[in-house]
Parts: sequence; structure tokens; C-alpha cells
Amino acid sequence: QRSLLGLKELDKEEIQSILDRAAFWEANSNKIEPVQQGKFVANMFFENSTRTRFSFEVAEKRLGTEVLNFSAAVSSVQKGESIYDTVRTLESMGIDAGVIRLKPIGVLAELAGKIKVPLINAGDGNNEHPTQALLDIYTMRKQFGELKGLTVSIVGDVMHSRVARSNLYALQKFGVNVRFCAPDNMRADGLNVDYVSIDEALQSDVIMMLRVQLERHENGMIKSAEDYRAQYGLTTERAKRIAPHAIIMHPAPINRNVEIDDELVEHPQSRIFPQMQNGVPIRMAVIERALG
Ligand code: CP
Repeated sequence: QRSLLGLKELDKEEIQSILDRAAFWEANSNKIEPVQQGKFVANMFFENSTRTRFSFEVAEKRLGTEVLNFSAAVSSVQKGESIYDTVRTLESMGIDAGVIRLKPIGVLAELAGKIKVPLINAGDGNNEHPTQALLDIYTMRKQFGELKGLTVSIVGDVMHSRVARSNLYALQKFGVNVRFCAPDNMRADGLNVDYVSIDEALQSDVIMMLRVQLERHENGMIKSAEDYRAQYGLTTERAKRIAPHAIIMHPAPINRNVEIDDELVEHPQSRIFPQMQNGVPIRMAVIERALG
């Protein structure tokens, strides 16, 4: 039984084994393979989600687990109950693992020290989003076969991005040349990464665009959506300058016509919807790893 709190602490071999197990599940044609029947998994989302929440639920159901869906908005959190008391409550009812998304930074690590069942990070403030990066890396591996030597540029609001951090930590273990591209006021401090211009970012094997996380912004972080698009957006004009073998990625949800133009979302070089599809086998592998 093992938690997955982040990719910073996971070694390359462990990441590789999750990717390999996901490939096994992707190749398995049975919709439901109840190898984890009789286990209970709670999805505890203290912050909104569509993709992560539902792909965990699909993954858990495909493995035959009993799924409990907790939503902060209709829970006793509204009466002032703390995150710890909520998770401890579900643990006391006998769950075998918990999938958890949190807004406040630092709470997950503290919780993991107190809760005995394995916890899977489904998005932790701006710290890490390990299953998103795993599905991103799985998507790159499917595309290119070998990760070593690839150049991946992650563009946009890296300051608020747990996706950027998890990808950076994991991809560097595979010998990938990761670069960030961001406006000065959206850069992340303290990371071992070089920043490049948007023109340089286009010269990559993978151009990963990030959502402008307006809900986390203080006033005035961007002048306007139009101004951001003009300076940092993947516009149709800019997309003409990417290599024919390069792919476009985005963790979604997407601000269409802000960080990426509408018509590029389902462009032949885009892997945005395949990323979502790959989330299910990745999360099956992660749930299995937690349940043992
Ligand atoms: N990519 C991602 O985490 O999407 P959701 O917020 O919809 O889960």
C-alpha cells in the first residue's frame, strides 16, 4: 500500500513501472476487470475538477472497486469541519485508499503523516499534480517512444501550475530538456529550469500550453485576454512555425483563444483529448499501486 504525493520523490524506475502498467491496462479490452473488488476508494475533492475526478472514478470502477465520491460543496466542510477531520472520518469508516485534491499548500504532506491509508494526490495547491504529469509523460512516450533527448517547453502561468512542477520533476529524471516560458510576473521561483522566449518555445518536440489560472490571480496579473494571447498564446500563426513532428499539449480545462486558439485544440498535432483518454489507464495503475 503506497501513497502517491508527488513525482519529485519518485525514482525513474517507479515512474516507468506505472507507465508500463498503464500500457497494460490500455491494451486490455475488458471494460471492467474487477481485480480490486471489495476495496473501497474515496474521491475527496476539496477543489473543483472534471477530468481528474471522473477519470479516477472510471479507473476505480474498471478495477471493480467500490467508489465513494465526496464533494466539499455538499459536505460538513460547509459547517466548518476541517480537511483533517473529513479525511479521518472516511478513514474510520474503512476506506482502503483516498484520492484527494486540495487548494491550500502544505496540507497534503501534513495529512499523509497522520492518515494511515494510502493517499493519492489529485492536485495539491500549486505544488504537484502527479497523475496529470504521468498521463502527460505517457502521452509523450506513446508519441515518441523514447523520452531521453526530447525538448519540452511548458508555456504560460507556471507560477500557479502544479502540472508544470510535476512534469519538470519527472521529465528531468528521463533526460528530457525541459524549458519554461512565462511572463515575468508568472514565473516560479526556486526551480532548476531555464526560461525561453515564446519563439524559442515553438522550437520543441512538445509545446505544452498552460491554463491562465485566473481564479488564483491577484488583480491585474494580465492586462487583458487579448494582450496575453498576443504575447504568450499559441495562435494559429505561431502554430505554423512548429515542427511537423511536434505535438501540442494542454492539461485542460482550456481558456480557448487565450492561451491557445480555438482551432488548434483539435488540430492534427494536438494531443489534448488523447491526454484525457490516457488519464484512465494511468489512474488504474496508480490505484492498483495504492491498493496493492
Ligand atoms: N487537468 C485537470 O486537472 O483537470 P480538472 O481540473 O478538470 O481535473
